Amino acid sequence: MVGKTTYIAAAFVLAFAAAIFPGSTTANAAPAELNYKFYCAQCHGTDGKGDGPNATKSQPVSPRNHTSAKEMAKLTDQDLINVVKGGGAATSKSTMMPPFGKTLTDDEVVALKDYLRKLCNCKGN
Ligand code: HEC
Repeated sequence: MVGKTTYIAAAFVLAFAAAIFPGSTTANAAPAELNYKFYCAQCHGTDGKGDGPNATKSQPVSPRNHTSAKEMAKLTDQDLINVVKGGGAATSKSTMMPPFGKTLTDDEVVALKDYLRKLCNCKGN
């Protein structure tokens, strides 16, 4: 089980980042990779392969494999932003994909979109 330790480590890094940048305007804007490991990896996996600890065979849909250029190229950059902000419900996908529009700032969502593009090494249609 690497999972648990990884998340505790991620939480620690986030707390640490907040501690060394108090009051700076970017205090809430964690780097995309940290946000991904903190908010997304539980389902999508730390490497984005869709195999996080919450992705079990008993679920009706699997979290998207973010490293699949084939799957990810079907989504435009705006699609990615919409689904991260509004969750699966906003994009007629599974509501297993939660909305993050209230948790993350717009800048963080855009940074995550760029991070997703790095993971898939692909561009949207
Ligand atoms: C509770 C589990 C869970 C978490 C946490 C989660 N996702 Fe998802 N995600 C899913 C599932 C399940 C799907 C597949 C939905 C479908 O295909 O109907 C999905 C699909 C997606 C898709 C593809 C949507 C599409 O239209 O094909 C993107 C992009 C995505 N997630 C990004 C993220 C990002 C970024 C985060 C973190 C900010 C995140 N997800 C957190 C479960 C999760």
